Amino acid sequence: MKALQIRQYGGKDVLELNQNVPQPVAGNEQVLIEVHAASLNPVDWKIRAGYLKEMAPLTLPATLGGDVSGIVTAVGASASHLKVGDRVYGYASRVSGGSGSFAEFVAAKISTVAPAPQKGTFVEAAALPLVGASALQAIEQHIKLQRGQKILIHGGAGGIGSMAIQVAKSIGAYVATTASEEERAYVQELGADEVIDYKKEAFEAKLKNFDAVFDTIGGDTMEKSFKVLRKGGTLVSMVGQPNPELAQKAGVTAIGQLTHITTEALKRLAHLVDSGTIKIRVDKVCPLEKATEAFQLVEEGHARGKVVLEIK
Ligand SMILES: NC(=O)c1ccc[n+]([C@@H]2O[C@H](COP(=O)([O-])OP(=O)(O)OC[C@H]3O[C@@H](n4cnc5c(N)ncnc54)[C@H](OP(=O)(O)O)[C@@H]3O)[C@@H](O)[C@H]2O)c1
Repeated sequence: MKALQIRQYGGKDVLELNQNVPQPVAGNEQVLIEVHAASLNPVDWKIRAGYLKEMAPLTLPATLGGDVSGIVTAVGASASHLKVGDRVYGYASRVSGGSGSFAEFVAAKISTVAPAPQKGTFVEAAALPLVGASALQAIEQHIKLQRGQKILIHGGAGGIGSMAIQVAKSIGAYVATTASEEERAYVQELGADEVIDYKKEAFEAKLKNFDAVFDTIGGDTMEKSFKVLRKGGTLVSMVGQPNPELAQKAGVTAIGQLTHITTEALKRLAHLVDSGTIKIRVDKVCPLEKATEAFQLVEEGHARGKVVLEIK
């Protein structure tokens, strides 16, 4: 089968589209999926570059990619909730117990797969798993956001931020978000009540007494976010561990999130899509042969929506 692999960590030049990669076999608690589409996330280039090699070393050569949608073609002996022919989506990166989704077939742990949303295409389904599960975990499990509360979502036009705005609005919260001026109309369409142009305005001078901050940016943005929270508020960051001293001084709970993609989260996400509560924005769809361009777009960090490889 065709697969996008690396033999060594590095820049975009280490990407190899190999034609004769052995098809993976579904292990006991796995399913084999014929991949229709696979989306890119920033973590894919971070894995390629070796940023995660201490925490999660790869056996090389390794197939890249996590987010996936497709059709189940084989089921492992203990994999119970899916059958051959099911239309599924989920996460199957090498660091999460899968065989890598930038390929014609992928083996995925059954616990990271669920039936795909009934609405929408394979491309749209493949764009959802990591960004959708990240937003749900932060807002529903860590922050436990309630109707009428105020939340600041950083990077509201990004993959995770755009999901988070929609989830927070469906709960009935007041949402402020940081985005560039070009994305103002988009984040307002998602429901944002207040938009702060991160290139021109200081969000920490404008917002006070917020119940929660969901940070998808990190660095200075995360540090300044403590100023926005009320005592007893919650900060969740997708990008590193918040400083515990700053958290203590501000009297808030601060969490560095590691997203866990589960069948339950994927089922909930599919329900939110099918009920029309959340929509995913896709910027670019390209074949595996154009994967280097796709990586470049994601690595630059300014795509206008998700970047998806259409494989079948
Ligand atoms: N911890 C985990 O388990 C986990 C899981 C998934 C993702 N992540 C991390 O979460 C981060 C976000 O992922 P993503 O998929 O949402 O990324 P993404 O889709 O690339 O989103 C980036 C967004 O951030 C905006 N942006 C850039 N600088 C900004 C700033 N200073 N203030 C406000 N917005 C800014 C960009 O807007 P413009 O283009 O308009 O500048 C863009 O809309 C990545 O670092 C990723 O690696 C962590």
